[in-house]
Amino acid sequence: SWTTASIVDEQVAAIRAQVGGKRAICGLSGGVDSAVAAALVQRAIGDQLTCVYVDHGLMRKGETEQVEKDFVAATGVQLKVVDAADRFIDALAGVSDPEQKRKIIGREFIRVFETAQAELVAEAGAAGEDVAFLVQGTLYPDVVESGGGTGAANIKSHHNVGGLPEDLEFELVEPLRKLFKDEVRMVGQELGLPEEIVQRQPFPGPGLGIRIVGEVTRQRLDLLREADAIAREELTAAGLDRDIWQCPVVLLADVRSVGVQGDARTYGHPVVLRPVSSEDAMTADWSRLPYDVLARISTRITNEVAEINRVTLDVTSKPPGTIEWE
Ligand code: XMP
Repeated sequence: SWTTASIVDEQVAAIRAQVGGKRAICGLSGGVDSAVAAALVQRAIGDQLTCVYVDHGLMRKGETEQVEKDFVAATGVQLKVVDAADRFIDALAGVSDPEQKRKIIGREFIRVFETAQAELVAEAGAAGEDVAFLVQGTLYPDVVESGGGTGAANIKSHHNVGGLPEDLEFELVEPLRKLFKDEVRMVGQELGLPEEIVQRQPFPGPGLGIRIVGEVTRQRLDLLREADAIAREELTAAGLDRDIWQCPVVLLADVRSVGVQGDARTYGHPVVLRPVSSEDAMTADWSRLPYDVLARISTRITNEVAEINRVTLDVTSKPPGTIEWE
C-alpha cells in the first residue's frame, strides 16, 4: 500500500544516512521482526550487511534449519551461524528469576555479536572496514513493555531493549521501533519476503529460556522442545495457525504432580498451553481452541514425552496475565 511503501522509503533513507559507508550486523532470530529489519537494512545498504544467527540452544525444534534455509533463500543475505548453546546454557545455570534470565540472555547475545564483529573485521583484512552497527528488530511494544516508552513501568525486559548490557559498543539501528507487528508484516510483504516468514507466529528472542519456570537445563529444554513441537504440529494440522497469535507451551519445571500410566505411578511435570489471540500483543485474549484439538495435543504430549504427565490450559487474558509466563 501507499503508506507501507512510504515507510519503506523513509526507513531506507534513514538507514543510509545513519550507516553511511560502514558495515552492520543484524541478529536474526527466526522471527518476523528480525527478518523484516534485516530485509529493510539489506535494501538500504546491500552487502554492507551481514546477518548473524545465534543458536543459543533455547530454540524450538527445526528453527535453526529454517533460518538457514528460508531466509537466505528469500534474500540472498550473507549469513554467519554461531553455535553458542553451551555459552548461553552455562550462563543460565542456577538462575530461576525471569528478569535475571532475560538480562543474561540479552548480555550473551551482545557478547556473541561482538565476537562475530571482530571476526568480520579480521576477515575484511586490509580493507579494515569497521563493523560499527547492530541492527535489531525492536518493535514499539517491546520498547513500551521494557519501560522505555512513555515512562511506563518495566513489565519485562525484552531481550533487545531492557536486556542490553550497559557497555554496548555498537550503535543500534532499529528501523521498526515505531511499528506494531501488523505494520511490520506489511513492510515485510512490501519488501517481497515470502508468506512463511511474514506470517510466522511470534517467538521471543530469549526462546524457550523464558518458557521454563525454574532453572533452565539441557534436559528440561529437550522436554519442552518435544512438547512444543507436538502442540505446533497439531495446531498446524487443524488449520489454526492463522487464527491464533501464538501458543507458547510452558514447562512448570519446579512443579511435580502424581499421575498413573499403565498401572504405574508417575511423578512428572505439568506443561501449560497458552494459546492467545491478539492484534498487537499489547492486549490478548485466550483462544477458545476446539476441545478435540486440545485433547489431541494433551494425549500426544503425555504419551510421547515421558516426564510430562499433565497438560493444562491457561485461560487468562492480557491483562492481567502477560502472554509469556516470564
Ligand atoms: P508478553 O509476554 O510481554 O509478550 O505479553 C508480548 C509479545 O512479545 C513476545 N516477547 C518477546 N519477544 N524478546 C522478543 O523478541 C523478548 O524478550 C520477548 N518477551 C516477550 C511474546 O512472545 C509476545 O508475542
